[in-house]
Amino acid sequence: MPDYLIRHATLRQLQVFEAIVRLGSFTRAAEELFLTQPTVSMQIRKLTEAIGLPLFEHVGRNVEPTEAGLELYDACKLMFESLANLEMKVSDLKGLKRGRLSLGVITTAEYVAPEILGEFSQLYPGIDLTLKVTNRESIIERMHANEDDLYIMGQAPKDELEVETYEFATNPLVVMAPRTHPLVGKTHIPLAAIAEQPFIVREPGSGTRDITFRTLDAKGLRPNIRMELGSNEAIKHAIAAGLGLSVLSLHTLTLEGTAGPVAILDVEGFPIMRKWFIVYPKGKELSLVARTFLEFAIDYEPKIRERVKKMWPALKLVLDEKKGTAPRTKRVSKS
Ligand code: PGA
Repeated sequence: MPDYLIRHATLRQLQVFEAIVRLGSFTRAAEELFLTQPTVSMQIRKLTEAIGLPLFEHVGRNVEPTEAGLELYDACKLMFESLANLEMKVSDLKGLKRGRLSLGVITTAEYVAPEILGEFSQLYPGIDLTLKVTNRESIIERMHANEDDLYIMGQAPKDELEVETYEFATNPLVVMAPRTHPLVGKTHIPLAAIAEQPFIVREPGSGTRDITFRTLDAKGLRPNIRMELGSNEAIKHAIAAGLGLSVLSLHTLTLEGTAGPVAILDVEGFPIMRKWFIVYPKGKELSLVARTFLEFAIDYEPKIRERVKKMWPALKLVLDEKKGTAPRTKRVSKS
């Protein structure tokens, strides 16, 4: 038993400390925890006395954790994770009435994740939901830092992080152009013709950007980049405004459909049939809420597939052909 710290430190102090390190600022931590700045400073002073070493140092105008601070931060993360699990287990015992779910998703999944969360929260209205939408690279970083319960992403990360992976919905990537573009309605457009066109690309770190570059590169082509944008919605608007063509997920057209101001081109090698996976780090103990959501999302997948078929009947064939290998609850290991 860590008698000394049990007598001298409190969970509240650790919570304040964790928030400062995570948010990089005393002020932001005070805001997040609804505390005043003097309270935050006092909690840290007491915690510093209990540890017996400085926890922060000034680097220019910023405060950064010292080596002892970093050690404490790692310990806090472990402690809070097990306390969060305990809270979940207790609420499990109370029957999923309360709890928390934090979901991290790549931007292409922003068009389906809110809808699934919406349906889920109708069944479990007492569960607080957090949805973080960001690009592939940031999702992998969040997974390393164990920031969320579950992640929706394209292929599982191919680094040292071992993950549990569940196949989820299809994510067809298509070439989009403004409705009035001369290539609209043409069939079997060669990739080289697309590479000549002004192109709008996502930011570095985006999985969509990565696969677009790799597809062109495989044919010895490079996109003629006119603009770089960090949002699928912004890209769609830029396409409609005639700034160029782009490769985006078909799901980006969920609300307006495929007959709107943005048209899909019939290009050699497209659609690229990507898949989403629901992923979490191996060994992580999922809460009952997270496990229930995982099953719920997988059961929800056929609805997404039906919608994709309706949106773009040309895809029906491809999707039906793949039925045998399509999403199911099978667990697959890291590729
Ligand atoms: P992105 O991810 O949001 O990083 O472009 C899309 C994907 O990997 O399918």
